[in-house]
Amino acid sequence: MCDIDRLNRIFYQLYQDDPIIVRAPGRINLIGEHTDYNNGFVLPAAIDKAVYVSISKRNDNKIFLHAEEYNENYIAHMDNLRQSKFHWSSYVLGVVEQLQKRNYQLTGFNIMVGGDVPVGAGMAASAAIECATVFALNELFELNISRLEMVKIAQKAEQEFVGLQCGIMDMFSSMYGKKGQVIKLDCRSLEYEYFPFEQDDVKIVLLDTSIKHSLASSEYNTRKKQCEEGVAMIQQHIPEVQSLRDATIEMLDKYVAQNKLIYNRCRFVIEEINRLLAACIDLQKNDINAFGKKMFATHKGLSKMYEVSCNELDIMVDLVKHNKAVIGARMMGGGFGGCTINIVREDAVEELIYDTREQYRERTGMNLNAYIASIEDGARLQKMPVSF
Ligand code: GLA
Repeated sequence: MCDIDRLNRIFYQLYQDDPIIVRAPGRINLIGEHTDYNNGFVLPAAIDKAVYVSISKRNDNKIFLHAEEYNENYIAHMDNLRQSKFHWSSYVLGVVEQLQKRNYQLTGFNIMVGGDVPVGAGMAASAAIECATVFALNELFELNISRLEMVKIAQKAEQEFVGLQCGIMDMFSSMYGKKGQVIKLDCRSLEYEYFPFEQDDVKIVLLDTSIKHSLASSEYNTRKKQCEEGVAMIQQHIPEVQSLRDATIEMLDKYVAQNKLIYNRCRFVIEEINRLLAACIDLQKNDINAFGKKMFATHKGLSKMYEVSCNELDIMVDLVKHNKAVIGARMMGGGFGGCTINIVREDAVEELIYDTREQYRERTGMNLNAYIASIEDGARLQKMPVSF
């Protein structure tokens, strides 16, 4: 939780102004990985770690940016937005660019980005910055943009300015999160449904490998292309198939089998979409053990067929998989580093973290950071300026 008075104080020292403050959370995803950009389903939730964006208007066309965590400053111009040497600034400027493209009227502003979503840990810190920024600009300039439109603006900012061809999951969860509920999102129709996930005796534990993933480093975009390639191969025979959501294993066996790599990528996605649907039934039946087994199966698929895991993530899942208190575990998010998500019996959490930390250090020489995530509400206005 961030101290709003402290943010106010720092903002005042920087800009001598009283800001609007917006909070947008990071996310977890229980199951349904790499399915969003294939028009499938996901099952994410917003968490108690969040980005805080503080913002106020300027009388010129400049954007003064400050990142609290790194104590870095940058000045951009509304009429000449470009990437800076600071990666974080792209998430803010990408949103401004999208708003401009849609003809929203903005002037210059001061902005400070802070919060406690660990960067590069697979909790979608970048989407949280984008969501907090668009939410804050919407308030500041009274733009009247709906939540769904803000989600789409944030996603486009990531795709066009940052260059990651991401799906909609991260932004959607940051905007639509609800306390105690996971979101079953149909990424094709954007229909969604909340499922309660308040298991009194289990906790969601995130075990961070300390390997910072860099998704934009092409592998993510490559996976997306490979899925599209598979769809194109099927389409030659069945034109109605628009995405892997419409495809079946039988279609793959028939039309994609000659290309083993593409086959594996597509097979994982189709299986994962089906696994998620079955996992939602487990949740409805309150069968958390069956749900957990599916998480392990997801990890195997992500590691062996989709190949977005890494040695450290595999070790992290390996270390817990025979522990009776661990109901399910898998890598979470885009991959190549970041966290595993673990559903753990509450009374065993402390011991599990302690043991795993020791063993992880022994096997990799790396530190393990652990977070217990609670499911919270999505983006919201945290504070208006006194004078507004
Ligand atoms: C990243 C992307 C999401 C999603 C996940 C994998 O977090 O931003 O859109 O594709 O990877 O499920």
